[in-house]
Amino acid sequence: MKLKTRLIISFVVITILPAVLAGLVVWGVARYQIHVIEQTYGLTGAQYQKFEQSLSTLNQIPEVHDFIISMFIGVVLILALTAMLMILWIYGSLLRPIEKMEIAVKSITEGELDFELHPEKDDEIGQLCQDIETMRRRLKENAEEKLKNDKENKELISNISHDLKTPITAIKGYVEGIMDGVADTPEKMERYIKTIYNKANEMNTLINELTLYTKIDTNRIPYNFSPLSVNDYFNDCADNLASELESQGVEFGYFNYVEGDVKIIGDAEQLMRVVNNIISNSLKYMDKVRPRINLRVKDVGDFIQVELEDNGKGIDARDLPYIFDRFYRTDASRNSSKGGSGIGLSIVKKIIEEHGGKIWATSKPGTGTVMYFVIRKYQEVPIYE
Ligand SMILES: Nc1ncnc2c1ncn2[C@@H]1O[C@H](COP(=O)(O)OP(=O)(O)OP(=O)(O)O)[C@@H](O)[C@H]1O
Ligand SMILES: [Mg+2]
Repeated sequence: MKLKTRLIISFVVITILPAVLAGLVVWGVARYQIHVIEQTYGLTGAQYQKFEQSLSTLNQIPEVHDFIISMFIGVVLILALTAMLMILWIYGSLLRPIEKMEIAVKSITEGELDFELHPEKDDEIGQLCQDIETMRRRLKENAEEKLKNDKENKELISNISHDLKTPITAIKGYVEGIMDGVADTPEKMERYIKTIYNKANEMNTLINELTLYTKIDTNRIPYNFSPLSVNDYFNDCADNLASELESQGVEFGYFNYVEGDVKIIGDAEQLMRVVNNIISNSLKYMDKVRPRINLRVKDVGDFIQVELEDNGKGIDARDLPYIFDRFYRTDASRNSSKGGSGIGLSIVKKIIEEHGGKIWATSKPGTGTVMYFVIRKYQEVPIYE
């Protein structure tokens, strides 16, 4: 039975039932009273008949009769009015919000999520309304997230095919050159083979990066967290970087401002990946004749702050907020010959976040870029004997 039908039946029952019951009660009480009078005054049959007759004559007096009828109508009207008010009140506070929720749930089932459901009152129904609204908002966020992921996946596929196609075309060209006998001198042959080797390496790097990215994205990278001494770790890191960068003609500066035996909890290998990724960007987007990279490690209270500065071409202010997004490449790097899929910094960000840290960048086009990341210090819990 529908709620509306139930309310109509309730209205009828609330109005009629009390009136009928009241009539019955009055009639019963009157009969009982007559019986009591008869017993108390010991009326004989004839006397009793006379008494009953006088009562019915009383009923036949028009004023008394009208009074009884008016009383009856009055009571029924009062009951009807009360019932109506109660039913309207229930209708307003129950049925209207239920109808609204019904429409909302139907829209959600049909996949329509662009609406808002406002609870009217702060009661159980209002709470239910609020819950449906929260559900709608979550579903909408999920749907948007899915749409974004789908778009990114499509972009990824098109990026991968583009990025793999470029070296493959080059390899094909050089191999055809060799087959056609274009590389007719040992020098030419060496150059061709070197190029093929470099292009194959480029593809290999890209495929490795993609594999790592998928693993990171689906949380399939097992982290190996352990307490690391900041000074030991970054001194080693700087030593490696110094020899590697200087061999490439890059001036490298290392400034460590951390005093004492400060520790962080981290995965040494993944943190190295972060540093290498940032450095590889600095090298890739370098446009100066005297390239320079600085590594600074600072103690900033509860955190250790690492800064990697380059004097490369810099990043436009409008690109800066997006460089950590997946597949984001600035227009300048998209148009340049510098291969890359825009994954590097999103991997870096993910790793830093898995360490409970934060990463950001500042940059000045033409002057250079500084990448900053912070990692919380490890506080050893003292053991009291
Ligand atoms: N040091 C930097 N100097 C100038 N631009 C930078 C620097 N680091 C990052 N960028 C810009 O940010 C974009 C995103 O960097 P990210 O490392 O994520 O991708 P990528 O280097 O293009 O590709 P990948 O790292 O996957 O090979 C780059 O395309 C580049 O435009
Ligand atoms: Mg990169």
